[in-house]
Amino acid sequence: KKGNYEHYMEKEIFEQPESLTTTMRGRLIRGGESKLKSVVLGGLKDHLRTMRRSRRIIFIGCGTSYNAALAARPIIEELSGVPVTMELASDLLDRQGPIYREDTAVFVSQSGETADTLQALEYANSHGALCVGITNTVGSAIARGTHCGVHINAGCEIGVASTKAYTSQIAVMTMLALALGDDSMSSRNRREEIVDGLFDLPNKVKEVLKLDKDMKELAKLLTEEQSLLIFGRGYNYATALEGALKVKEVALMHSEGILAGEMKHGPLALVDETLPIIVIATRDATFSKQQSVIQQLRARKGRLIVICTKGDAEAVCPYGVSRVIEVPRVEDCLQPVINIVPLQLLAYHLTVLRGYNVDQPRNLAKSVTTQ
Ligand code: UD1
Ligand code: M6R
Repeated sequence: KKGNYEHYMEKEIFEQPESLTTTMRGRLIRGGESKLKSVVLGGLKDHLRTMRRSRRIIFIGCGTSYNAALAARPIIEELSGVPVTMELASDLLDRQGPIYREDTAVFVSQSGETADTLQALEYANSHGALCVGITNTVGSAIARGTHCGVHINAGCEIGVASTKAYTSQIAVMTMLALALGDDSMSSRNRREEIVDGLFDLPNKVKEVLKLDKDMKELAKLLTEEQSLLIFGRGYNYATALEGALKVKEVALMHSEGILAGEMKHGPLALVDETLPIIVIATRDATFSKQQSVIQQLRARKGRLIVICTKGDAEAVCPYGVSRVIEVPRVEDCLQPVINIVPLQLLAYHLTVLRGYNVDQPRNLAKSVTTQ
């Protein structure tokens, strides 16, 4: 089943153009004549009104599924106007945080069987919230226990490290944002650009996968490191967290995703000539802020690796000292789907070079069905 690939993780990373295509199949409408470009999510159409009217949308998940929701949060807030809050399922349960009838609780889970997420679902349901599932597994406990939802249709994911499910989850939640916003005239152009971006996304993922060799080279340089920091912000704060999760989970290297806006509130003290730091600085509204983060890290002689938009190497690194990874540009809210790919590849190659088990990292299970 692994075909030409050594490991499932590698196969699933390279499958992403196809898994994204299946995720979106039948759900994007091209428009034409008087018809708008839009989306159809069969499982949600009778519930969108309730969701739009809810007091807040709460995303609940664990690990990579939480990160995917974090990546989609800005576009959901922008297009729906509904405040979105984020909950790690275990923390919501520990706090017994307040949930109300006027809330929409969205449960994100690849397996649909994660114990904490499932228990949080029971909790939210008992408090009267509308419970929506975003799962990859038809017939799973979360798919069955939610009032409605969307299957991400990414295909079976075998590697313990979630890769293709992550990008498909972001695609589905972006479609959810479009569906929630489609009663608004003022955001029509924005929504149509995102629909176009979704159509083209599998091609752009194909393009970014060509960085495989470069990421292997980078992995060689980093093989012996103890630690790797990843700075991101805005849409790509989630990319930083998810990249770091991949590196620690499979390559067994300490890694931390850091919100760049928090740099001066502590993390800057770690910066020296030796610690490798990846900075995500692709084009979006936060680009100039990331440029100044890069300047400040360079002033402390930080050992930087910058992920930037194609053609921006000069703009992010005027003296050519840092390593630069150039990725294709897509619509800002879809950029996390592109930006995570080189980090997935880096985690993969680091794991192989360090001699660890790629598909079955020590101490971990694919689906965490106990608390
Ligand atoms: C559905 C069919 C799909 C078919 C398509 C044709 C299924 C599973 N899907 O896809 O095979 O090609 O119609 O129009 O039969 N749901 C939850 N919780 C979840 C996920 C889903 O309650 O976590 C519910 C949805 O509300 C919906 C049903 O499960 O009622 C199917 O969801 P989904 O597969 O996303 O719907 P469609 O894309 O319409
Ligand atoms: O099946 P789920 O999406 O609910 O799983 C949640 C986490 O256990 C999962 O994403 C975990 O963090 C992955 N191993 C990360 O690669």
